[in-house]
Amino acid sequence: MPSDRGIKKRRLDSADSKAAASRDGAALAASLLAWYDRHRRRMPWRALPGERADPYKVWLSEIMLQQTTVAAVGPYFARFLARFPSVRALAAATLDEVLALWQGLGYYARARNMHRAARIVAHEHGGRFPDTAEALRKLPGIGDYTGAAIAAIAFGRPEAAVDGNVERVMARLHAVETPLPGAKAELRALAAGLVTTDRPGDWAQALMDLGATVCTPKAPRCDACPLSKTCAAFAAGASERYPRRLAKAERPRRYGVVYRIERDGAIWLVRRPEKGLLAGMAALPTSDWRDSPWGAAEALAQAPAHGAWRKLGAVRHVFTHFALTLDVYAAAVEPSGEGWWGDADALPTVFKKAALAVD
Ligand code: ADE
Repeated sequence: MPSDRGIKKRRLDSADSKAAASRDGAALAASLLAWYDRHRRRMPWRALPGERADPYKVWLSEIMLQQTTVAAVGPYFARFLARFPSVRALAAATLDEVLALWQGLGYYARARNMHRAARIVAHEHGGRFPDTAEALRKLPGIGDYTGAAIAAIAFGRPEAAVDGNVERVMARLHAVETPLPGAKAELRALAAGLVTTDRPGDWAQALMDLGATVCTPKAPRCDACPLSKTCAAFAAGASERYPRRLAKAERPRRYGVVYRIERDGAIWLVRRPEKGLLAGMAALPTSDWRDSPWGAAEALAQAPAHGAWRKLGAVRHVFTHFALTLDVYAAAVEPSGEGWWGDADALPTVFKKAALAVD
């Protein structure tokens, strides 16, 4: 049995290590916020230093930024704000107007949910957004990440908004050995433990910016990182080793055929079904995706139009739960069924790769 003194000493040790951890946490927060003050990315929805963020702009941007890059969102955000300067104006619009303005941004369920949420805010909340993550999550289109991001950025709530960038930063900072996607809860808990009550909105966006510009998946710029002194992965000289992932071989492999129909520099695009992977997004026509490769005759039998198809090669893309190989066939034929002529810009990466494949 440990003596009283032993127990007391251990309690003191534990209190000491907690105090030390919180001192480390405070030092880390101070370094990151100081870095953010100098290196923050300018974005049209961001408040200037010292200014209050506008919840409508924050919400609009966060919905648009789900699955979409900052660069792609910029012009859409400007057009939406010009046409619908307030949540009440958005609520008063028809869904068709909103969908027309959203055209090209993909994931159309977001636009529908956004419109429903605007009506709820306008009609049931007097035009003011709820100001906690929990209440925000009750609105259509707002999940854990977006609820936390809006609560932190627009309302200064100490909430951890954890996306892939923040997961990567946490995995490196603590050299987390658990592979993704299983490590998600652990990484979220680590991020939650670091949230600051001082400037929570800046903290959230500082982590996002760090993940996007310094703590990048490949070739991270550790020499420019304000957290390198406390980063376990950096100390081990192994930043790129984290986050750990299941080996690619452990992912099931699936196969499909993608058909690129070309005319005058444009390609034929179709909308993916509203349910399932890449739901509602613009895409190239494809065959089913299955567990075995496709022979040429089978691939041509599934083609959306008859004509002189030529095989360009294959593109590969790794999704969370499987790795996909798509054989790319191209032809200048007359398409059938619903679709439209467009370009590769607004396509999800897997289809962009196919759209840009060359002979
Ligand atoms: N990604 C999602 N929300 C963002 C934000 N507010 N700033 C930068 N990147 C983001």
